[in-house]
Amino acid sequence: MSTFHPLRVTAVDQLTDDSVALTFAVPPELRHLYGYSPGQHIALRRHRAGGDAVAAGAEVRRTYSLCAPACDEPSELRIGIRGVEGGDFSSYAVKELRPGDTVDVLPPTGRFVLEPRPGRFAAVVGGSGITPVLSIASTLLAREPEARFCLVRSDRSTASTMFLEETADLKDRFPDRFQLVTVLSREEQQSGLASGRLDERRLSALLPSLLPVPDVDGWYLCGPLGLVEEASRALRGLGVPRARIHQEIFHVTEVPSAPVASRADAGGLRSVSVTANLDGRSGCWPMDDGESVLETVLRHRADAPFACKGGVCGTCRVRLVSGEVRMERNYALEDDELEAGYVLACQSRPVSEAVEVDFDG
Ligand code: FES
Repeated sequence: MSTFHPLRVTAVDQLTDDSVALTFAVPPELRHLYGYSPGQHIALRRHRAGGDAVAAGAEVRRTYSLCAPACDEPSELRIGIRGVEGGDFSSYAVKELRPGDTVDVLPPTGRFVLEPRPGRFAAVVGGSGITPVLSIASTLLAREPEARFCLVRSDRSTASTMFLEETADLKDRFPDRFQLVTVLSREEQQSGLASGRLDERRLSALLPSLLPVPDVDGWYLCGPLGLVEEASRALRGLGVPRARIHQEIFHVTEVPSAPVASRADAGGLRSVSVTANLDGRSGCWPMDDGESVLETVLRHRADAPFACKGGVCGTCRVRLVSGEVRMERNYALEDDELEAGYVLACQSRPVSEAVEVDFDG
C-alpha cells in the first residue's frame, strides 16, 4: 500500500533562478517500494508553518516528476521543481529546503510512461514539462538500441530552461538517435534556436519537417494546459490516432474551477452511500451533499491517496465497481483507463444512490 515515508534530502541543485532539482536518499529497506517507470511522479507532503491564508499545520501536497532514468530499486530519487508564484510547496522547495532536511514522500505513481521498446518516439514539452520526458528519453535511449527520440521543447529563454546540461548530454551520447529542437518564446533568434510561441499552427508546420509523423509510435506531451492542448490538436490534425498521444498537464492554476454538482443536479438523490475498498479493507459511509467520493472517504480513512485534488495528477485513481458517478474534470486519465472503468475520486460526484470504488485495483 502506498504510504508516506520521510526521506532525507541529499542534494538541492539550482537549475535556473526559479527551479531546483531535489535528490532524496532511499534507505535500503524501502527501495523496493520506490521503484519507478520512466515518466512517473511522486507526491510530497508538508505541514505549513503558518500564514495568513492557510492555518498553521495545514497539509499541503504536490506531485513532482522524477527526472532520472528509471530504476526498480533506487538508492535515490531526483525530481525537478519550478517555483510557482504563490505556490505553497514549490516556493518552500526552491527557497528553503536544504540537504539534511526530510520530506514525506509517497511511492511513485502515474501512467505517463514509456516502457523502453524499439520504435520512434517524440515529445513536445513546455517549461518544467521537460522533467518526466527527460526520464523517458534517457531510459529509452540507454536501454533500447532500436529506439529513436525527438524532443521539441519550448521555454521562455535560455536562462529559464531547466535541465539544459542533461538534454545536451543526451545529444552527445546518442547523436544518431536523439533529436533536440528548442524554441524560445521571449528571446531573439540566436545560434540556430527558433523563437516565438509554439501553437497549433506552428506545430502543424514544424513537426512534419522534423520527422515522419505517421511513423511515430508514441507522442508525449507535457507542460502547461495551453501548450498540451495546442500540440494535441496539431497532432490530431496531422492524422495521429488518439491512442498514440499521451499527455500530462502541469500548472493546475490554469484550469478553470468547475462548479460543484449537488444532489439536485443529479436528479434529486435523497441519500447516497459510498463503499470503498482501500488497502484490503472496505467500509461504507453516507456522503454529504456536494462531497466528492474522495472527500467522503477521507473523513473515515485518512490514508486514502491524493495529491492535487484538481483532476490533474491521477493519484486518486479508483476503479468504479458499481454505481454511477460524474467527473467534474479529468486531465489525468486516458481514454483506455476510462473505458476500463477508472475514475478520479477527487472529481467524482454520485449520480446513483450507491457507489462502490476500489482504490487497490
Ligand atoms: S488528487 Fe490529483 S487527480 Fe485527484
